[in-house]
Amino acid sequence: MRQLHDRFFRQAKREGKLARSVYKLEEIDRRDHIFHPGDRVLDLGASPGSWLEYILGVIGPKGLACAVDLKELHPRFNGQAHFQQLDIRQMAGDEFSRLTPHFDVIVSDMAPNTSGIHLVDQVRSLELCQSAFALARRILRPGGNLLLKIFSGPDSPRFRRELTQEFRELRLRKPDACRQESSESYLVGLGFTARGLAGAAVPDGGSSKCP
Ligand SMILES: C[S@@+](CC[C@H](N)C(=O)[O-])C[C@H]1O[C@@H](n2cnc3c(N)ncnc32)[C@H](O)[C@@H]1O
Repeated sequence: MRQLHDRFFRQAKREGKLARSVYKLEEIDRRDHIFHPGDRVLDLGASPGSWLEYILGVIGPKGLACAVDLKELHPRFNGQAHFQQLDIRQMAGDEFSRLTPHFDVIVSDMAPNTSGIHLVDQVRSLELCQSAFALARRILRPGGNLLLKIFSGPDSPRFRRELTQEFRELRLRKPDACRQESSESYLVGLGFTARGLAGAAVPDGGSSKCP
């Protein structure tokens, strides 16, 4: 039987974290150095906010944290992050443009409502990843980083190849806090090349920090 209250769940309770998923992000960031102080970060599928809390800690007071989810964020973020309650699939890309035209890092921990049918869940997860990638191609700065949660399925190798073409390096991670029985893993795209945007308006790579 699936163990619901594992050591990461108990650790999260003990440390007052909003969700055990924070330990996945911590491990990935320890290995891949995704965030830096002063970064502008967009967190997709941010609720309740354990990733956001970690991100705010790393980027510090000079950084900018923006977040999107279908559901409300935990009230502890009032005034700390710019939040929009939205469906990512409906985002135009200019939702935070009054704050910044481009982000240094975009992360997505989005997960579909699971049906229990693996193939269906994998297809829905891939759709969310594709929406996040399409958004990133518009508002991630050249050199920026993208992190996507994916439920691996038959079409994920093709999606990975697409990402490989637009990042200096692509890594696949399954942090310890991922449940072993789950097909969940994380794609880490380092150094957005914006190659696929050749000929289109390419975001200005100038300052990577908040205006
Ligand atoms: C695993 S939770 C994220 C946990 C979060 N990273 C944290 O650490 O607290 C996945 C989230 O993705 C959101 N989500 C799923 N589909 C979405 C969509 N189409 N647009 C925006 N958010 C979505 C869900 O509402 C849910 O809150």
